[in-house]
Amino acid sequence: MGYGTSPGPHTHSIPGCSSKLPSMAPLFFLLLFGQILLCTAIDTINSTTPLSGTQKIVSAGQKFALGFYSPPSNATSSSSGNYYIAIWYSNIPTLTTVWTATTDVPVSDPTTTSFQIATDGNLVLLDQAKNQQLWSTNVSIASNSTMAIIRDSGSLDLINASNSSIVYWRSIDYPTNTWLPGGKLGLNKTTGLSQRLVPWKNSADPSPGLFSLELDPNGTTQYFIQWNESINYWTSGPWNGNIFSLVPEMTSGYNYDFRFINNATESYFYYSMKDDAVLSRFVMDFNGQIKQLTWVPSSQQWILFWSQPRSQCEVYALCGAYGSCSVNALPFCNCIKGYSQKDQNDWDLQDYSGGCKRNVPLQCQNNSTSGQTKPDKFYTMEGVRLPDNAQSAAGGTSSGECELACLNNCTCNAYTYNSSGCFVWHEDLMNLQDQYSGDGVGTLFLRLAASELPDRKKRKTAIIGGVVGGVAAVLIILGVVFFFLFQKRRRERTLRISKTAGGTLIAFRYDDLQHVTSNFSQKLGGGAFGSVFKGKLPDSTAIAVKRLDGFHQGEKQFRAEVSTIGTTQHVNLVRLLGFCSQGSRRLLVYEFMPKGSLEVQLFTGDTTALSWAIRYQIALGTARGLNYLHEKCRDCIIHCDVKPDNILLDESFVPKVSDFGLAKLLGRDFSRVLTTMRGTRGYLAPEWISGVPITAKADVFSYGMMLFEIISGRRNADHGEDTFFPTLAASKLHEGDVQTLLDPRLKGDANPDELMKTCKVACWCIQDDESTRPTTGQIVQILEGLLDVNMPPVPRSLKVLGESPNVINFFSDLSSSQTSQTQNSTATSQTHTSTSGSSQL
Ligand SMILES: *[C@@H]1O[C@H](CO)[C@@H](O)[C@H](O)[C@H]1NC(C)=O
Ligand SMILES: *[C@@H]1O[C@H](CO)[C@@H](O)[C@H](O)[C@H]1NC(C)=O
Ligand SMILES: *[C@@H]1O[C@H](CO)[C@@H](O)[C@H](O)[C@H]1NC(C)=O
Ligand SMILES: *[C@@H]1O[C@H](CO)[C@@H](O)[C@H](O)[C@H]1NC(C)=O
Ligand SMILES: *[C@@H]1O[C@H](CO)[C@@H](O)[C@H](O)[C@H]1NC(C)=O
Ligand SMILES: *[C@@H]1O[C@H](CO)[C@@H](O)[C@H](O)[C@H]1NC(C)=O
Ligand SMILES: *[C@@H]1O[C@H](CO)[C@@H](O)[C@H](O)[C@H]1NC(C)=O
Ligand SMILES: *[C@@H]1O[C@H](CO)[C@@H](O)[C@H](O)[C@H]1NC(C)=O
Ligand SMILES: *[C@@H]1O[C@H](CO)[C@@H](O)[C@H](O)[C@H]1NC(C)=O
Ligand SMILES: *[C@@H]1O[C@H](CO)[C@@H](O)[C@H](O)[C@H]1NC(C)=O
Ligand SMILES: *[C@@H]1O[C@H](CO)[C@@H](O)[C@H](O)[C@H]1NC(C)=O
Ligand SMILES: *[C@@H]1O[C@H](CO)[C@@H](O)[C@H](O)[C@H]1NC(C)=O
Repeated sequence: MGYGTSPGPHTHSIPGCSSKLPSMAPLFFLLLFGQILLCTAIDTINSTTPLSGTQKIVSAGQKFALGFYSPPSNATSSSSGNYYIAIWYSNIPTLTTVWTATTDVPVSDPTTTSFQIATDGNLVLLDQAKNQQLWSTNVSIASNSTMAIIRDSGSLDLINASNSSIVYWRSIDYPTNTWLPGGKLGLNKTTGLSQRLVPWKNSADPSPGLFSLELDPNGTTQYFIQWNESINYWTSGPWNGNIFSLVPEMTSGYNYDFRFINNATESYFYYSMKDDAVLSRFVMDFNGQIKQLTWVPSSQQWILFWSQPRSQCEVYALCGAYGSCSVNALPFCNCIKGYSQKDQNDWDLQDYSGGCKRNVPLQCQNNSTSGQTKPDKFYTMEGVRLPDNAQSAAGGTSSGECELACLNNCTCNAYTYNSSGCFVWHEDLMNLQDQYSGDGVGTLFLRLAASELPDRKKRKTAIIGGVVGGVAAVLIILGVVFFFLFQKRRRERTLRISKTAGGTLIAFRYDDLQHVTSNFSQKLGGGAFGSVFKGKLPDSTAIAVKRLDGFHQGEKQFRAEVSTIGTTQHVNLVRLLGFCSQGSRRLLVYEFMPKGSLEVQLFTGDTTALSWAIRYQIALGTARGLNYLHEKCRDCIIHCDVKPDNILLDESFVPKVSDFGLAKLLGRDFSRVLTTMRGTRGYLAPEWISGVPITAKADVFSYGMMLFEIISGRRNADHGEDTFFPTLAASKLHEGDVQTLLDPRLKGDANPDELMKTCKVACWCIQDDESTRPTTGQIVQILEGLLDVNMPPVPRSLKVLGESPNVINFFSDLSSSQTSQTQNSTATSQTHTSTSGSSQL
């Protein structure tokens, strides 16, 4: 963790108190403590009390402090020697800044620099040695009798010295990278002043980075994250009266109050904490994601609860030119073949935007006669997201011609040839992504100097040619013998494996798994924790092998957790058969599920629609599986990531919950787990982002969201621009008209009682207050028909604003534009699926 956090740069003392510090060394600590008790901290800067050196001011409730702050320049040094005026939390041990006065030139010596009230009444940062003004609040004030005060809200306010209700300037209106509770994020339509969140350049430099989050300046009600103020790579979707359509999880809960105001004079998003003691902040991270963190006192650290865009690799140009992003690797960015980091120090500070540079110039770029003489070659990169700005090359009607078209122009860096023709790249290659399977995937042929790609064929012939024929023959024969011996041994070992596969977990060897999966060739999916491959044991049992990525856990702990997962067995849970833990490699071996995931069955066009009876069986089975996790096994397991992707189906469509226990398994790297899975849009219980402890009821919420999708056959957010399906369903349920909610592919063919029951359960599950949600045990009983269920209230966060014409419109539009919406949403759901990488397990 560490967004604007660092170890404390130096000790701070309180102005006006330092004189009271006696010089008696032995009593120092005692008195330092005493000093805090004796002095009421000063929270203001007035015309006679400038701030400099190690002085700071602290808000009345001791929540925030302001002073000079020096971020660490790298992991090994505590201070960069650059100072900035900053506001940080004063009541937690991890130094975490929330605001900085952005200056072009950082302060090098805070003792000769002062933060003071200038003669014009503005608050300024003045370098006294050079007599240079580095920063100013820059507002026009009629007099100079002003003072600055640090508030418990984290805002520094410039106020009239004799009347504190007259405020001239507030730092919270000029946020830097952090959006604090009580702060607005929006636009004042009279002045045009907008609040944008701009990340630091890197972990050591608070100057503005390339990304920004702001309300659409064109006046719509959606927020964008932009790269270089030009390219939008994420949007919240428009406000529909209740939620932003693409972040439905952002609703008011117990701890939070989210509000969007949009009228003639202003338009902004605002949030506040219901309990002031809970510390929470939104930060625009220098890696281009917006993150919400909450301070968890019991673990004394900031815990990431939410972030967008969901995948780090969706951030535009994150890895710079010639860098490639990889979802399952840390760091996310690497240089492509033949290139190396332009600025090692920036990369070390996790700023990859500088990108990479070519190691060896191309033949055509090289002027010297002594240099490269061999023609350039092409390096094949398969399964990558192709870079932006491809140019169609007219001449290239075959792969060979396409290659030639690229070779013949010195500015051509790469080409691809596919069914739509030949494309070349003359500009920097941006936005490459490894191990990619979504939209725009392809094979890139990267142009490199010949020396970067040693000619393997030639070398081999040279070696063979150099060896006397007889010796070679002997070697070959020996080689063949060894190969067969090796194969035999291998086969024996795998056979041994399948024999021991009785009840307990098998510890597989890595090369055995490599063998049974044909060297990981048949990928079933790539989920939050790693990729899944299909394999076949020697006795023809099909298996699914999950290769855990970004895993940093010790062998012993891994085995302990795996054995817990292994003993968690139920007919509605995917069975773990074995594991592999060898060196840094961690793999899990599961039974194979022939019908894939519920996500595939529900949302992809190439499967026939599941009948209602099967859907009901899936709903009930899933509830049973979850109930087993929650109540029946030794330690209660909260799944944390219930969604259709994680419900797998066997031959007869019996649902099996997968991926349980993994959140705990990867628990050490908590933030990463959260980033990858909890971003799952639409299934998150509100308490995930409100910072209260997570209980099994969070799974119930996600289960309810999933039930709606089982009913409608579509993703909840894919019912058109402004329609969030659960909102629609809750109101239709009250009108008694649940039949219209049913997946149109079923043509009304569903048991009406079961349909009504399922709708009611779903609506109960997504109540804001977790205590009103049913337990999984109750859900099972209701679906089994053993318990009756009442009409649920409309969840508060989904309540329809009665008067809003917007809302009325989209309800009546729904039926008329149903067909086109279906088509649209199928398309979007496919993109979504492929980019998010649905997982087999
Ligand atoms: C400035 O603040 C200090 C300490 O709070 C106080 O002693 C002093 O009188 C103030 N000066 C003015 C001009 O208000
Ligand atoms: C870390 O920063 C310090 C101070 O700027 C510098 O002297 C040192 O060389 C840096 N270390 C690395 C590994 O970059
Ligand atoms: C405030 O302004 C008056 C008149 O311009 C000036 O005499 C006085 O020194 C100023 N006070 C401060 C603290 O700058
Ligand atoms: C202060 O504001 C004026 C106009 O309001 C502007 O021209 C000037 O550039 C600003 N100065 C700084 C340092 O922001
Ligand atoms: C500050 O407040 C006092 C008292 O309300 C008022 O007389 C004075 O005009 C105010 N100063 C400015 C610059 O608004
Ligand atoms: C302070 O300013 C407010 C708003 O301008 C005004 O209503 C109030 O009367 C002023 N108070 C004093 C003591 O001047
Ligand atoms: C705002 O509108 C202009 C003109 O219609 C368009 O070029 C621009 O891309 C829009 N900006 C955003 C952020 O949508
Ligand atoms: C950002 O855009 C500006 C012009 O809009 C351009 O000059 C600059 O090179 C761009 N930055 C990067 C890193 O591409
Ligand atoms: C806009 O909303 C704000 C906050 O609710 C309110 O203070 C302001 O008066 C409203 N303006 C108009 C024109 O309705
Ligand atoms: C917009 O800014 C102007 C000038 O600072 C201010 O008077 C007005 O109250 C602001 N409007 C809103 C709605 O905050
Ligand atoms: C080749 O020569 C041109 C012009 O003389 C020069 O601009 C360029 O930098 C040279 N390139 C290399 C790789 O030396
Ligand atoms: C190489 O391609 C660039 C971009 O398409 C073009 O401007 C340039 O004229 C081409 N050069 C040659 C020698 O064809």
